[in-house]
Amino acid sequence: MLSPEKAKRLIAQYSDRDHRWMTVPVAIAALFVLLVTVKSCQGISYYHSDECRIYRLGYPIEDARTLVSVLSKAETDTFIARGEYDTIAMPVIQARYFIAANFVRYLNFHEADTTGAPLDVIVALVNVGYDRDRESSATPCDTSKGQLMLVNGRHYLEENYKPDSLVAFSMDYCYGHQQAQPAVVNAFMALQEACKQQTDAQLMINSAYRSYQQQIGTYKRNPKGYAARAGSSEHQAGLAIDVTSREHPMRWPFDKSEEGVWMREHCHEYGFILRYPKRQSLIFGFAYEPWHLRYVGKEVAKRVHDEDITYDEYYAYYIDNKGALTKPQSR
Ligand code: DAL
Ligand code: ZN
Repeated sequence: MLSPEKAKRLIAQYSDRDHRWMTVPVAIAALFVLLVTVKSCQGISYYHSDECRIYRLGYPIEDARTLVSVLSKAETDTFIARGEYDTIAMPVIQARYFIAANFVRYLNFHEADTTGAPLDVIVALVNVGYDRDRESSATPCDTSKGQLMLVNGRHYLEENYKPDSLVAFSMDYCYGHQQAQPAVVNAFMALQEACKQQTDAQLMINSAYRSYQQQIGTYKRNPKGYAARAGSSEHQAGLAIDVTSREHPMRWPFDKSEEGVWMREHCHEYGFILRYPKRQSLIFGFAYEPWHLRYVGKEVAKRVHDEDITYDEYYAYYIDNKGALTKPQSR
């Protein structure tokens, strides 16, 4: 230990004229010791940084930096806690509909998948909640979204839900008494008129608004996959219509008819989407329904059509996450 007396002696020793030349090397040595100390302190804190923890899982440092910038602190911690290198970690963040908050769920779902599903399918399934048990993850449908509300097996309408306003379709264009929300009726009128001009065929509504109680009957009568459980049908929201034509009243011949093909190709121009397209049936398992149109308005319908996604995917990506999906979140 350097006692005060010894320090005084040393100062006196180095201050005297004969030893003054040693002042510079001593100062340089002290500075060197100081720099090494500061550097090693930084090293210790860097070692414990998220970047370095990810690097130690086997990721190149550039990838570690990217992950840290994309993920929230909580998601980063969960990711690091998995404790292993994952081959899809970097590819998945490049996926078109990547949602940062779902990052670890993509990895877990991919790990558990035995079908070899491609990455875009993994992303789609997780985004719409198919990695979670349906019963326990079901939540009430957010009806405040109006014509953009999402109704499916995981977003249900209460038994007593009924749209504020329902109007009847003209009997010229439907079988039986059919009603829907006013915007849907207006959009259908424009759609059927255009279809008539283009194909000479008359589109007809087979079914539109159905109450919760009516849907119980529909579910019982239809083959599995062709009807939603009561509470999970867009028909209860007054936003869905089942359409065929006077010329082809049965669903399947309508599918192949000129007007059926025209309707699928043009319905987005009038605010409708094909809610259960073929791609959906391959991924999510609901039957392909070329007759079931859902009204979402022209802008959204165009996007769903152009991007060739289902409404569930649209909602998860553009509405639930408000578009701020791949941007770094506050840490
Ligand atoms: N056919 C659709 C799935 C419904 O019942 O709402
Ligand atoms: Zn339908």
